[in-house]
Amino acid sequence: MLSSSTSPLHLALCCVTLLSLHFCAAVPTSKVGFGYRLVSIEQNRNGGGLIGHLQLKQRTSAYGPDIPHLRLFVKHETQDRLRVHITDAEEGRWEVPYNLLPREQPPPLGSKASRSPSTASEYAGDQLIFSYTSDPFTFAVKRKANGQTLFDSSCGTIVFKDQYLEISTHLPKTASLYGLGENTQPGGIRLRPSDPYTLYTTDISAINLNSDLYGSHPVYMDLRNEGGEAAAHAVLLLNSNGMDVLYTGTALTYKVIGGVLDFYFFPGPSPLAVVDQYTALIGRPAPMPYWALGFHQCRWGYKNLSVVEGVVEGYKKARIPLDVIWNDDDHMDAAKDFTLDPVNYPRPKLLDFLSRIHSQGMKYIVLIDPGIAVNSSYGVYQRGMAKDVFIKYEGKPYLAQVWPGPVYFPDYLNPNGVAWWVDEISRFHELVPVDGLWIDMNEASNFCTGRCELPVNHSCPVPGSKTPWICCLDCKNITNTRWDDPPYKINASGSQAPLGSKTIATSATHYGGILEYNAHSLYGFSQAIATHEALQGLQGKRPFILSRSTFVGSGAYAAHWTGDNKGNWVNLRYSISTVLNFGLFGMPMVGSDICGFYPAPTEELCNRWIQLGAFYPFSRDHANFASPRQELYVWDSVAKSARNALGMRYKLLPYLYTLNYEAHTSGAPMARPVFFSFPNFTASYGLSTQFLLGSSVMVSPVLNKAKTKVKAMFPPGTWYNLFDMTKAVISKDERYITLDAPLNEINVHVYQNTILPMQRGGMISKEARATPFTLIVSFPFGAAEGDARGSVYVDDDERPEMKLVDGEASCIEFYASLREKTTVTVWSQVEMGRFSLQKGLLIEKVRVLGVQGSGQALVIEVDGEPSADGSGAYLAETSPMHQEKVEGGNSRSSTVVEVAGLSLPLGKKFSMTWKMGING
Ligand SMILES: *[C@@H]1O[C@H](CO)[C@@H](O)[C@H](O)[C@H]1NC(C)=O
Ligand SMILES: *[C@@H]1O[C@H](CO)[C@@H](O)[C@H](O)[C@H]1NC(C)=O
Ligand SMILES: *[C@@H]1O[C@H](CO)[C@@H](O)[C@H](O)[C@H]1NC(C)=O
Ligand SMILES: *[C@@H]1O[C@H](CO)[C@@H](O)[C@H](O)[C@H]1NC(C)=O
Ligand SMILES: *[C@@H]1O[C@H](CO)[C@@H](O)[C@H](O)[C@H]1NC(C)=O
Ligand SMILES: *[C@@H]1O[C@H](CO)[C@@H](O)[C@H](O)[C@H]1NC(C)=O
Repeated sequence: MLSSSTSPLHLALCCVTLLSLHFCAAVPTSKVGFGYRLVSIEQNRNGGGLIGHLQLKQRTSAYGPDIPHLRLFVKHETQDRLRVHITDAEEGRWEVPYNLLPREQPPPLGSKASRSPSTASEYAGDQLIFSYTSDPFTFAVKRKANGQTLFDSSCGTIVFKDQYLEISTHLPKTASLYGLGENTQPGGIRLRPSDPYTLYTTDISAINLNSDLYGSHPVYMDLRNEGGEAAAHAVLLLNSNGMDVLYTGTALTYKVIGGVLDFYFFPGPSPLAVVDQYTALIGRPAPMPYWALGFHQCRWGYKNLSVVEGVVEGYKKARIPLDVIWNDDDHMDAAKDFTLDPVNYPRPKLLDFLSRIHSQGMKYIVLIDPGIAVNSSYGVYQRGMAKDVFIKYEGKPYLAQVWPGPVYFPDYLNPNGVAWWVDEISRFHELVPVDGLWIDMNEASNFCTGRCELPVNHSCPVPGSKTPWICCLDCKNITNTRWDDPPYKINASGSQAPLGSKTIATSATHYGGILEYNAHSLYGFSQAIATHEALQGLQGKRPFILSRSTFVGSGAYAAHWTGDNKGNWVNLRYSISTVLNFGLFGMPMVGSDICGFYPAPTEELCNRWIQLGAFYPFSRDHANFASPRQELYVWDSVAKSARNALGMRYKLLPYLYTLNYEAHTSGAPMARPVFFSFPNFTASYGLSTQFLLGSSVMVSPVLNKAKTKVKAMFPPGTWYNLFDMTKAVISKDERYITLDAPLNEINVHVYQNTILPMQRGGMISKEARATPFTLIVSFPFGAAEGDARGSVYVDDDERPEMKLVDGEASCIEFYASLREKTTVTVWSQVEMGRFSLQKGLLIEKVRVLGVQGSGQALVIEVDGEPSADGSGAYLAETSPMHQEKVEGGNSRSSTVVEVAGLSLPLGKKFSMTWKMGING
């Protein structure tokens, strides 16, 4: 695997070095180091890979002393994953804990290297090649297939100090980059050169642009199109310390304040392959219960249970679907976790309410915060103290302030902390049988900064305070340690704020002496893992968790919403980029607060927002107490749009649930950038105003005030309007097409060659999922030949696992073909049909789009036999199709043909065929 310096590669590397010298001029890197020399490299005999030894070339003093000796470990861990791990050769350093994010461990330090290095060498895997130069040590990652350089560190200097790591890569101008969040990106999904990308979990709202928000995801996808062929790959720097990432357009530089350089390269080359490879490492997205794909209503400020009951009633009266009703912290007694307000949410009444809504299939979710009220008569606190579960500062629990007033923060890196948390959730579940948990404020958010004490001269919280978010503890800033005041200041909170500002002091410690400085961005992740363990243990059901703070791997446990946003038009638009980014981060179940968290949205905005929000993977209306009520039934026009858009969502639930299954098995985002299905369509690389649900449903919302038209871009082919399937967009090039978008309508189209499973919909997912199916089959408009396919996955979502197991799940693949303009055939393949048969799921209709003429001579077989089930079937009257928008003129005609009157069991394979008679 290791080839010597005499290979042609040697020449190639020299070229790269020369080229990158040229490009390096563009890297605005402060000269804080002189790099390292590779002094030895050898194969790792046990476990594979290469082990190298690096020696510092020259000391500098900026940002602290350099680490003199580094250990390099490189391994093709799988066919499609390369890891490059660089750490201190002499002492262990902080890394994302291997129990939190399970993965291969590099070999222990101290394995002595013996062979002397070659001046240039390479180490090839199935798809990627790792190559390096020795003096200075630089490395590159290339595609084996075509030699394309994906990563090339010769563009900068490797700096490795205790609290400052720096490394750069050269990037071609043609690279489109995505990811590096969490970040509200006014420029859309494609990263913009010179926008700052700072990663450090922080409670600042999504309204803040280009700042380090709630989550940290140091991963980017790089999509290039060279010579007409698109290829994507991703690069993860697995590191939980704060970092600034600088992107200039021709280079990317990481400036990280701790940990190790632990790179993972995922070769793609398709965007879907990238997320598959990525989630294979970090954990597959959590399976969602079916109801979680229904609509959710929440508000901070549902003062009492009667108000909540009224909201549920309001949805019923307005005939708007609703699956889940939420409480922010209003149900709690004085904002204390796991308690009930005895006056406004008395337990007997709440239980009565829950048994009523549960019997209808509705669900109930409440919020909890990590901060545990310091109150000696509060059981949760007492048990936590007894088990010593809180994060420490100078040997005592670290005191902070959140909604209940003074709090301590549980340490989810402490096994006792996890056990205590699991127990508290199970106690709470006894008190209130909630269906999921919302973990908020887990960046962690603190209203105070520094080292705080309970005030001696006044009470805290201030009784009756209208501003409980103002710090009322006695606090002093901490500046006397290198953790609180590190030599390099990342651009925290978009203002180079101290790291401990409004969060846990970074010199506080977790279990085993782990510094908050290192583990800070893991807090929400570790809480999601503990919460998942707790919920999974209850009733053996599939957990639903919504987390504000996230890290690499959080998607395996929780869903996410984009946090506090603003009820204005730009925030409506920004929501799309953040939702799409989380798909790349392996957290496909994501949405934004529909109609905005605050302040009051206009009726028109809320109207357009529910049209878009109905197609977020996670669809929830949520508002702040200070905003007026904004449930969807409050305005008639919004209610009308909600019935329309959510009505469509509920018909598409089988499709969404199948996407959820695909996400869980392959990491495929539910909501995707258009380039995921059309990687060669370069015009879509920056497209951030439209997106795809799955591979072929395009959502094109109105994102501007006072507009009743929308400019939308469609990759070439036919796109059928899902609300009126007789309307088709036929696209031929990269131009935007202007579509009508009346106030109560959103444009949603399905691409040709698709079979989309739909059901009748309904007011609640429990009922909708039992209704008969209609298969929408789309051929290219008026074409003579065509092939279409689709699939549906159904299962028993009371099971914690989402797995294709006989009797618990079924998977049905659908196929269709059109031959010589005349012969249409639609058929299915069934895997493990038993579950579907037990549930009695039926197909009642097959609707075919794009054919010409009218159908005749229908023949149906079920399980290979002429069908009795299909005996009532008939070919319905056909309706002519309208070419909604045709580029360049098109004289062909087309019709919709429907096979109706079916009662085909979904779980049995069928086949149907008929002839299309042209001109009659
Ligand atoms: C993209 O274009 C290349 C080269 O023309 C072709 O081989 C490939 O199949 C195309 N990919 C897609 C997804 O259309
Ligand atoms: C609940 O709160 C609403 C709004 O504040 C109030 O009008 C109503 O009287 C309250 N009902 C009960 C039962 O407390
Ligand atoms: C402590 O909790 C108890 C019980 O919930 C409550 O009655 C009391 O007001 C709380 N004390 C403080 C100081 O918040
Ligand atoms: C608190 O009150 C004591 C006694 O009245 C006084 O000496 C002290 O300065 C006060 N402390 C603060 C922080 O106000
Ligand atoms: C820090 O972030 C803010 C917010 O994006 C930005 O305006 C500012 O330029 C950044 N500062 C640096 C030094 O990158
Ligand atoms: C403490 O630090 C914060 C920034 O986190 C700053 O706003 C505040 O002025 C500082 N307070 C003192 C007393 O230095």
